[in-house]
Formats: sequence, C-alpha cells, structure tokens
Amino acid sequence: MRWIQMDDSVFEYVQRHANPSHDPVSEQLAATTQERWADRAGMNIGPDQGHFLEMMVAITGAELVVEVGTFTGMSALWMARALPEHGRMVCFDITDQYLDIATEAWDAAGVTDRIEMVIGPAADRIAEYDFDRPIDLAFVDADKPGYQSYLDLLLPRLSDRGVIVVDNVLWSGAVVGDEAQDESTVALRAFNDGVAERDDVVAVMLPIGDGVTMIRRR
Ligand SMILES: C[S@@+](CC[C@H](N)C(=O)[O-])C[C@H]1O[C@@H](n2cnc3c(N)ncnc32)[C@H](O)[C@@H]1O
Repeated sequence: MRWIQMDDSVFEYVQRHANPSHDPVSEQLAATTQERWADRAGMNIGPDQGHFLEMMVAITGAELVVEVGTFTGMSALWMARALPEHGRMVCFDITDQYLDIATEAWDAAGVTDRIEMVIGPAADRIAEYDFDRPIDLAFVDADKPGYQSYLDLLLPRLSDRGVIVVDNVLWSGAVVGDEAQDESTVALRAFNDGVAERDDVVAVMLPIGDGVTMIRRR
C-alpha cells in the first residue's frame, strides 16, 4: 500500500519539519556551489538526504565512513559532522577541482581534520587503499557505470553491521521500463536488478532524494 503522493508542497513540508530545519553551513555550501558550478549544482544532495545520512552515521555509531563521489563536499559535510571525535571519513573523487569549495564548508563546520580526500578513479584507488579497519558506512554517489565495481570493492571491506548507501538508484524514474537507453540509466537498471537478485546481501530501496538503496551483507 502506498500512502503518500510526494508533490512539491508535501516535500516542502517534509523539509521544514526536519530538525534543525535550517543549517547555515550546508545552505552556504549550496549557494557557493550554485554560484561557482551552476551547471552541475544539482549534484549536491539536498537537505532531506543530508539529514538522512547524518542520522545513519549517528545511529550506527560509525567510526569509519567512506564516500565515493564527493564533488563540493555536501554529503561529506553532513556525515562528517555526525562522526565521533575520533571518527574519520575517506572520500574518493576523480578530480580535486571542487575541493576548495568543499574545504571551505568543512572548515566552517570544524570537520576538515576528520576527512581524507583521495583523488583518482575510485575503483583503482579503493582497491589499493589500505583501510586499517572495516568500513562502517559507505555512501556511493559517483559515476553510475562504476556502481557495480564500487559495490564489489566495498562489500568485503564492510564491518559486520556495516551498510552501503547507494544514491540515485531511481534516476528520476528513468530506470523503470526500458525506454531510456543512455549509459547511466542502463547501468543503474542492471545494478538495481543485480542487487535484488543477490542472495548474499539484504537491501532496501527508499524513495529519498533521487532514490537510495541501503545494502548490508546477509
Ligand atoms: C553526484 S557528484 C557527488 C555529489 C556529492 N556526493 C554531494 O552530495 O555533493 C559525483 C562525483 O563523482 C565524481 N566521479 C565521477 N566519476 C568518478 C570516478 N570514476 N571515480 C571517482 N569519482 C568520480 C565526480 O567528479 C563528482 O564529483
């Protein structure tokens, strides 16, 4: 049974009833991203997803968080703030061209020293990275054709109760049916179908943002 039609007014109501409903650092980061990278500012996660990721880090007690796809640092900001003092994040992105904007926001939130940025193709960099403990939470939000390899690389590196959160799995609904045949949509469809068929994971797809799937080892 589906109860909610998420039109703009309901979505706006949802946003207003998060607590805190205003967050100056992420709001400034969104504004700076819009100003400097207007053509791709939509890649930042929104506050609804930010609250969700922050809550995930807090309630899982995550001490090591990995992010694949950092851009101007919005999702990293939300997650890093929820880490304990000794917690850390390792963020992978293919480019450092957005890092100045990210660092400004992370500095404003006082979390820069919790975040290590690793630059290069994420699949290669994750494969060679020496994580000195299991990963408690991973957030995947990079190139869609790479999703399968990120899942394959991250799953065995998870802690026993570790979770991988995968973004954009609904891709504005384009994954439904087979009309859209561009590379990202085809890759996401195959990824989603593959996750649903595996018998070594437990997964749930949630209609937050552009759709997220939470995956843990069975
Ligand atoms: C959707 S954005 C990430 C948005 C970010 N999570 C946020 O909330 O602001 C995707 C990012 O993935 C990065 N990316 C694309 N292909 C990549 C690859 N092969 N390896 C690592 N990063 C990649 C892009 O440079 C971009 O910064």
